[in-house]
Amino acid sequence: MNTTRDDFDPIPSTRHRIPVGVGSLKQAEEAADALAVPVALGKEPPDELGTDAAGLASAGFTGERGQTLVRTRENGPVRVAVGTGAPERIDATLARDLAAEFARAVPWHKRLAIEVPSRDLGISRAEFAQAVTEGVLLARWRYFVGKDADRAPLESLLVVAPDEDAEEIGRGVERGRIIAEAYCLGRDLANCPATTLSAVRMAEVAQEVGPPAGLVVEVFDKDQLIELGCGGLLGVNRGSVEPPRMIRLRYQPENPTGRIALVGKGVMYDSGGISLKPSDESHAQMKNDMTGAAAVLASMTALQALGCTAAVTGYLMCTDNMPSGSAMKLGDVLRMRNGTTVEVLNTDAEGRLVMADALALATEEPVDAIVDIATLTGACLRTFGVEIAGVMGNNSAVVEQLRRAGDVVDEPVWELPLHRPYRSQLDSSIADLTNMGGVNAGSITAALFLEEFVDGRPWAHVDIAGTAQLPAPRTWRNKGATGFGTKLLIEFALGFARPADADSAAAAS
Ligand code: BES
Ligand code: MN
Ligand code: ZN
Repeated sequence: MNTTRDDFDPIPSTRHRIPVGVGSLKQAEEAADALAVPVALGKEPPDELGTDAAGLASAGFTGERGQTLVRTRENGPVRVAVGTGAPERIDATLARDLAAEFARAVPWHKRLAIEVPSRDLGISRAEFAQAVTEGVLLARWRYFVGKDADRAPLESLLVVAPDEDAEEIGRGVERGRIIAEAYCLGRDLANCPATTLSAVRMAEVAQEVGPPAGLVVEVFDKDQLIELGCGGLLGVNRGSVEPPRMIRLRYQPENPTGRIALVGKGVMYDSGGISLKPSDESHAQMKNDMTGAAAVLASMTALQALGCTAAVTGYLMCTDNMPSGSAMKLGDVLRMRNGTTVEVLNTDAEGRLVMADALALATEEPVDAIVDIATLTGACLRTFGVEIAGVMGNNSAVVEQLRRAGDVVDEPVWELPLHRPYRSQLDSSIADLTNMGGVNAGSITAALFLEEFVDGRPWAHVDIAGTAQLPAPRTWRNKGATGFGTKLLIEFALGFARPADADSAAAAS
């Protein structure tokens, strides 16, 4: 059906691996064309900068956090002073941000090098190296299909460190590369136009990138979805000429320390369906309504390389949401995978419909925690803006693990209450529930809808409707579709500890 399938490669950034490594200052002098030198606020800079604090100050550079000053040289790489501010300790978030500011300050330099400061690190040198690698690679990524871009493609990154630290730092650099590459895959997918990246194409991408990363990939087509009784995904798909796909990914280490299910919303394009969206800016962004699915796929490609000890099963629920003669009608009733019936009162509340089937499927096998991630509600964008995601769940340990993971990777996630009295807003007079809550607390009623399908399993829902899109770049964050959640899910899976059963509050209601 897709008539333009050869137009664009949906995942261009996976085609070239950018070499990253560790080396001496001498190597950087020879092999790099820009070298970052961190400078603390009000402190004397290291000798490599070839000037002192007074010299920097006369050029307007004081060492404020994120400030950069490019100093050209007759030979050797340009030096870039990067202000660290006056932190007590440099943590991963600061290191990542500073590296990103450096990479953005020299957009046409292709071979970058960055020094590890010899003091004031609140993290290990490996963690520092990981963070700066992430920062540089993520800041220089761009999705672009035209002739000119606003930066040169990065050719290499060298982290400068003394020989005796090279091995430890090299491990950090490698982890940073793996995470950044996964994240860039997620960003490519989220930015790829919806006509190019159909559900069928998404499944092909999963089949391409999954197996080399140690994932078993299963693709379910329309007939198989009918067989499984996935009425939510099929209902949303009814208006589209593109067929749906459910993609199941399995990462299965030996003797797993826990079992996680990840469910991603893969609405490849959300027009609203019969409840058509207005042609405004937010509608124009709806190619990114599959960011949850992108983040699940992208994060899972990094698990084996990072030595994740938990088993992870991912479900990507992929379809367009389109209006047409065959589309879902308001008032239609869908029967979901677990037998629950849903009266559709707004076809634009489609995310919860496609997620429901996968949540039900996830409960059908042993699982210690289910985490779903979705661009689910405009209300979440209103609540938190574009840099914070919402989380709700029936298990405080799972919610807390997500919150902490978000802190570590600087993808912040804040909890909203799963206020069960609001569940009555979803009551239907002809079915088990409707897909529409009232006008207020839309993120909460959406989560309460999802909870109907997790059968009391420890579960948390991450709403990334706000964070899936950014109007302007900031540090390592890109403009446009962000792929938000990729680092969050990686960190969550790596640190996963099996929770006790669902909270008693949840069990009681
Ligand atoms: N994909 C949207 C949510 C969204 C809105 C994401 C804005 C990013 C920016 C979702 O499918 C949707 O349309 N939700 C509706 C639900 C409502 C009809 C109950 C919403 O939030 O308006
Ligand atoms: Mn919608
Ligand atoms: Zn949607």
